[in-house]
Amino acid sequence: MKTTGLWLLPALALVAGCSSQEEEKPAQPVQLTFHEVMKDQVDKNADELWDVSNAAIADMAGIDPAKMTDASWEQLAEKAEAVQHAALEIATMDPVVVAKPGVKIGDEGLIGGHTAAEVQAKINEDPEKLRDLAHTLARHMGDIATGARKHDAAAVGPLVDQLDGVCESCHLEFWYPDQKEEVDRILGQHT
Ligand code: HEC
Repeated sequence: MKTTGLWLLPALALVAGCSSQEEEKPAQPVQLTFHEVMKDQVDKNADELWDVSNAAIADMAGIDPAKMTDASWEQLAEKAEAVQHAALEIATMDPVVVAKPGVKIGDEGLIGGHTAAEVQAKINEDPEKLRDLAHTLARHMGDIATGARKHDAAAVGPLVDQLDGVCESCHLEFWYPDQKEEVDRILGQHT
């Protein structure tokens, strides 16, 4: 019974045989791609962090301590640490593999979108810069976590406010560098 069907698909069996051999080779834990860490760890946890801080937003984009509870401070610290760890994971990737073959990144296929191969080429030009920017995010998140553990709204408010800029500075460098000029122009108009 075990062999039933196998002979029906000799070619597929052959392919499956090859790939299972390949899969056996790395006995280490599966190495996540950059894209997987960015999407499932950096972005997910940062979004959850913003959910907490947005609920306590005060005038001038600060955090109103009266709207925070022990639990929400703790949540903020934990989310910041989760992003910090993900950023450090990115910072220590060597080589940096953006995505597995065939995987489409977020804006691929949209007008003005980018492919994983384009991002990969950009990162290959200067992987150290990517690591530096990942370390900057890790430090920023470490500072948010420290402030959150002290329930220090005055320190955490501005850091949360600046967070988007920390993300964007890396995106403009490696994800959509073609939009750098446009962004500079728009920012210039606001100052
Ligand atoms: C060290 C550089 C770097 C930092 C810092 C960074 N990103 Fe990214 N991010 C990238 C690159 C490169 C891409 C494009 C590749 C991709 O989509 O996976 C990307 C893609 C994304 C995407 C699209 C994911 C998809 O579906 O393809 C989201 C969402 C995102 N980042 C959110 C964030 C947020 C939120 C932060 C800050 C908390 C952040 N990123 C910080 C480099 C960075």
